[in-house]
Amino acid sequence: MQYTWNDIEQYIAVCTQCPLSQTRNRPVMGRGSHEAAIMLIAEAPGGQEDQQGLPFVGRSGEILDRLLQDCGLDRDQIYITNILKCHPPGNRDPKEVEKEACFPYLKYETFLLNPKIIVCLGRVAAQRIISPDYKITRQHGTWICRKHCALTATYHPSAILRDPSKYDEAKQDFCEIVRKWDELQG
Ligand code: URA
Repeated sequence: MQYTWNDIEQYIAVCTQCPLSQTRNRPVMGRGSHEAAIMLIAEAPGGQEDQQGLPFVGRSGEILDRLLQDCGLDRDQIYITNILKCHPPGNRDPKEVEKEACFPYLKYETFLLNPKIIVCLGRVAAQRIISPDYKITRQHGTWICRKHCALTATYHPSAILRDPSKYDEAKQDFCEIVRKWDELQG
């Protein structure tokens, strides 16, 4: 049987697969176009996302929107999701058990979307999706190809909030993502 977007959303809404279900306010499902060629995968919802049940609505969302806008993209053209659908208290790194419990949802989102490009935002996503020893500072902006999908990573917007000098490098990565998308469209 094949699940639909609606099914996945319903499962996430009542998920109790890990202890974060006891501390979350609202689970945060991915958001954006279900036709998008570009999928952004970040780490986990922050505090404001936990309140609103939407990804990237806080300060890091503002940085993300600026990056997208600077490269001629907007959120309606892409799909944004997280490895974890629930907020880890205190914004700590996701635990291994939490990532494993949540991974089937991400797999299903990826299956349904079938993106041409996957962009990992930050170390946690890059190490889970691209390679466990991924070094974001050294490897961001590089590409690999897997099952007809191009994968890359760039800095997490919250890393840019902590160190604004990373903005230009992330912007270059995003502009390269748009270039790759144009190239893939022929
Ligand atoms: N940080 C993330 O990794 N994801 C969000 O949705 C918001 C902040």
